Amino acid sequence: MEPQFNFFQHWYPVSPVEDLDPNQPTPVTLLGLRLVIWKPKSSADFRVFLDQCPHRLAPLSEGRIDENTGNLMCSYHGWQFDEQGICTHIPQAENPELVSKNQENLCTVALPTRQQQDLLGSNAIL
Ligand code: FES
Repeated sequence: MEPQFNFFQHWYPVSPVEDLDPNQPTPVTLLGLRLVIWKPKSSADFRVFLDQCPHRLAPLSEGRIDENTGNLMCSYHGWQFDEQGICTHIPQAENPELVSKNQENLCTVALPTRQQQDLLGSNAIL
């Protein structure tokens, strides 16, 4: 029996880098998945996340890059995510320790990303 081809285990180009604005998130769709491309201020590379905030599933592509932290901020309630998709800030959290202790459970989905020449690629392994 031949192994089945799994579309989600291959690399795909998602955008020419020159089309991306490093100052704002860009929505794209890959294999029916809504994704967001963004560039952390601390990084030379773009990142690709599922375009879905783990809080209430709002599109992260409607958010912005926070001026101070350089992280991706959801426009709905201001949660912030670092380049690995880990939640770093919840404005409503009365005790910031709750965020730091539960970061792993509050993260968004970051996809593998690579840049070859002027093309940004991603792999949809979830
Ligand atoms: S939906 Fe993103 S912070 Fe609430």
